[in-house]
Amino acid sequence: MTSVLQQLRTETAHQHEALESTMPFAALMTDRFSVSVYQDVLLTLRSFHGAIHHATQQVPTHPVSTMLDACAVCEALDTDLLMLDAISAPAFVNDQTITSQSTDIIACGYVWLGSSMGAKMIHRWLQNNAPASLPTHYYQTLSGCSQHWAAYRRYVDTLTLSVQEGEKICRSANALFSGLRNTASKVTAVMQPA
Ligand code: HEM
Repeated sequence: MTSVLQQLRTETAHQHEALESTMPFAALMTDRFSVSVYQDVLLTLRSFHGAIHHATQQVPTHPVSTMLDACAVCEALDTDLLMLDAISAPAFVNDQTITSQSTDIIACGYVWLGSSMGAKMIHRWLQNNAPASLPTHYYQTLSGCSQHWAAYRRYVDTLTLSVQEGEKICRSANALFSGLRNTASKVTAVMQPA
């Protein structure tokens, strides 16, 4: 039987690819990188992490909620955005409400902790290529979350989930990725009016 983690990876791979090719994410680790791109990345991610933080606060003892270091990640984002004089982040543009049901929280954990893998790479790139004055508290803090990836995977592997629950988790994870792209286009449209 395919595990939910395998299913998540397979069913969201196209979304990850699409996100990596969407501005402002597409300019990370390239010569198109700029402070303005960085600001847009952080604004988009502030609304993503904020929306999940809100949902996990309803179920603080859920094993996945405890793995996200949500307060620290949101605080690190706020610190960076303040240092960049950024405008406040928009609301997360999600087609599907993030509820505190376990299926949604598991999906949130996957996208949040999965993003900490890419964060390690991006943090290293910023250290080597961005001006030393650029605030990187967020990427540093999120990279630290990657230590929970193995525990998250173990936890999900211990669950006995029905086919319907597996599908619900994948739908919710896909909605989060689409929400990130919707939010990114809102952020970049605000920053670059026609
Ligand atoms: C341009 C920015 C990004 C890059 C370059 C990137 C890169 C990566 C890389 C290299 C991995 C694989 C890590 C490994 O297997 O060791 C990964 C995994 C992942 N990333 Fe990203 N990422 C980016 C943005 C994001 C964002 C913004 C999210 C969501 C908020 C995200 C969600 C995920 C997920 C869920 C996985 C886990 C896939 C799995 O193994 O099942 N990524 N990313």
